[in-house]
Amino acid sequence: MAKIIGLTGGIATGKTTVANFFKEAGIPVIETDQIAKSLFTPGSEVYQKVIAIFGEDIVFANEEINRKALGEKIFNDDSLRESLNKIVHPEVRLIVRSQADVLKKEGHSLIVIDVPLLFEAKFDREVDVTVVVSIPKTVQLERLMNRDSIKKPYALKKINAQMSLKEKRAKADYVIDNRGSILDTKTQFNTIIAALKES
Ligand SMILES: Nc1ncnc2c1ncn2[C@@H]1O[C@H](COP(=O)(O)OP(=O)(O)O)[C@@H](O)[C@H]1O
Ligand SMILES: [Mg+2]
Repeated sequence: MAKIIGLTGGIATGKTTVANFFKEAGIPVIETDQIAKSLFTPGSEVYQKVIAIFGEDIVFANEEINRKALGEKIFNDDSLRESLNKIVHPEVRLIVRSQADVLKKEGHSLIVIDVPLLFEAKFDREVDVTVVVSIPKTVQLERLMNRDSIKKPYALKKINAQMSLKEKRAKADYVIDNRGSILDTKTQFNTIIAALKES
């Protein structure tokens, strides 16, 4: 029986970094961020619904959705963010399930799903084990501002829109502390992967 691992954390805590460790170890990773992005293709059902709610000012001249503009709208308005989640999350869930089924049939014993909002969206019910990548909030703020080239107030809004890392750590089966070097994180990863392969 395949074991499904839900990989999560906060924004910019290092989920993708750890997802890459899993990939390097030959373990397939389903990336929900990529799936969500693919749903915004011009003309798709999600695309139509999003434009119906957010209007044409989140659309580029070439008809693609301006994700940055969309992001600014939803992180300044909780109810808009919920509306968007209601459109996108069920679709992502369906695609994740079907991709996981394919991987199971291929015989993989471990399958990772990288889900930023694993606990918020109650997706943890659909996985066997949860791994949370955590860092102190000050480090998170700095890495987020650097990675996305955004200023502190907006970065804080994005961080505060999520469940706190403390709460996520309490819910996790395994916690990876990614405040140190990549090598340090890799060492923690190796310990967890050994435990996952054993159990
Ligand atoms: N241990 C680390 N030390 C320094 N920078 C890191 C470390 N882990 C990740 N980063 C950097 O922090 C940023 C966020 O990491 P990322 O894996 O993209 O987070 P997430 O997928 O959780 O949003 C990236 O710019 C990444 O290169
Ligand atoms: Mg990521």
